[in-house]
Amino acid sequence: MEKITAVKGMEDNFNPDIKIWQYIENIVHKKMKTYGYGEIRTPILEKTELFVRGVGNTTDIVKKEMYTFLDKGERSMTMRPEGTAGVVRSVVEHNMLQAGLPILKFFYFGPMYRYERPQKGRLRQFHQFGVECFGSDSPYVDAETIEILYSILKEIGLSELNVKINSIGCPKCRPVFRDKAIAYFSDKKDNLCGECAERLNINPLRIYDCKIESCREIAKDAPVITECLCDECSGHFEIVKSSLASINIPFTVVPTLVRGLDYYTKTAFEVTSKHLGAQDALGGGGRYDFLVSELGGPQTPSVGFAMGIERIVIAIKNQNIKINSADADAVYVIPFSKNEFGYGFKVLNSLRNAGIPSQMAANDKKIGNHFKDAEKIGARFAVVIGEDEVKNGELTVKNLALRTQAKVKADEICAYIKSEGK
Ligand code: HAM
Repeated sequence: MEKITAVKGMEDNFNPDIKIWQYIENIVHKKMKTYGYGEIRTPILEKTELFVRGVGNTTDIVKKEMYTFLDKGERSMTMRPEGTAGVVRSVVEHNMLQAGLPILKFFYFGPMYRYERPQKGRLRQFHQFGVECFGSDSPYVDAETIEILYSILKEIGLSELNVKINSIGCPKCRPVFRDKAIAYFSDKKDNLCGECAERLNINPLRIYDCKIESCREIAKDAPVITECLCDECSGHFEIVKSSLASINIPFTVVPTLVRGLDYYTKTAFEVTSKHLGAQDALGGGGRYDFLVSELGGPQTPSVGFAMGIERIVIAIKNQNIKINSADADAVYVIPFSKNEFGYGFKVLNSLRNAGIPSQMAANDKKIGNHFKDAEKIGARFAVVIGEDEVKNGELTVKNLALRTQAKVKADEICAYIKSEGK
């Protein structure tokens, strides 16, 4: 029979990489507690309209990359390409944004889907960890959001990070910039790529995000948004910068950073790593003060980010960060022959009842091969049970790391492993 393979751009995840994922997840869960964020889990499938309205119908994501299909009831459905729109839909739907309530802070972790050309660090199913904070227009909350992203990446052990920030203005000042950009690029329209020429009058900001060299070259001398900010936006941006500096987060202002989603206002940011290839953004986000109201909720200033887990895993490997995931007290029980399985089964049960991670050999093998298996599965101790051990109620315990051996009374085995395996 022919094998069935996974869908292009979608990956299975198991040992040893899954250990790296769990390492990342542990860190983000701890951080979320520190920063007072609660978890939210929203469906993968949403009505297509949510992303058309939320992410924006001039973005590449909506125009080209969505997994959209009609369900059996002929309704247009989309596998979420990102997490923000779904979280906003949920908080609006459940009336979580009522005046007078404390600010609402949610995090999420899950798969996202974009029909992109797969390459290293760019998948069709990828995973994001993201945070969304609703209900504050304070620039300190923008700075805190950047701090969360940066401090998670640092705690993971990643170095040579570049925090890029920008302000992309608000509905008051962006039209001024838009007019200036259109005037500048119109002259050079013939030298822009087909797509940018098309974008020019619809959403000129997208041109700043184009990866094509000739467009980048033209965009280099284009007017930048930071020169057109209104007083409110520039004052906000100044506080974001000074507060990041006050907590020693290094950053670079990149006036051409516009991000690929339409909902941003004021602060936009991205963190890149030198340890990644072409797809160098580990995470990104920004403020989105009008998305909640555009999706039918009350006017609610909001800010958030998402980071790509697969890219972080690549950076961890490229940086050779060692993750110690083995349990220091893990045990492998080895019955010497079929006759000792029954005894071993009871020992296994008492180890597990004491909370010691343990497994038992399940097939007949030479003792040397049993020891090899024990090491392969990450056990620190092998407990060998032969005829004598059963008779005397005394087990042979081998410390696989130190290569030492001891005889331990059966009823003292749990206490022994706990004290030796610290
Ligand atoms: P984004 O920049 O589109 O933002 O995605 C965030 C991160 O997801 C990227 O920096 C990257 O690490 C990862 N990522 C994106 N596309 C792919 C892909 N095809 N393969 C692998 N990784 C990918 C957002 O999605 C916004 N929702 C972030 C946000 C939250 N803004 C405010 N709140």
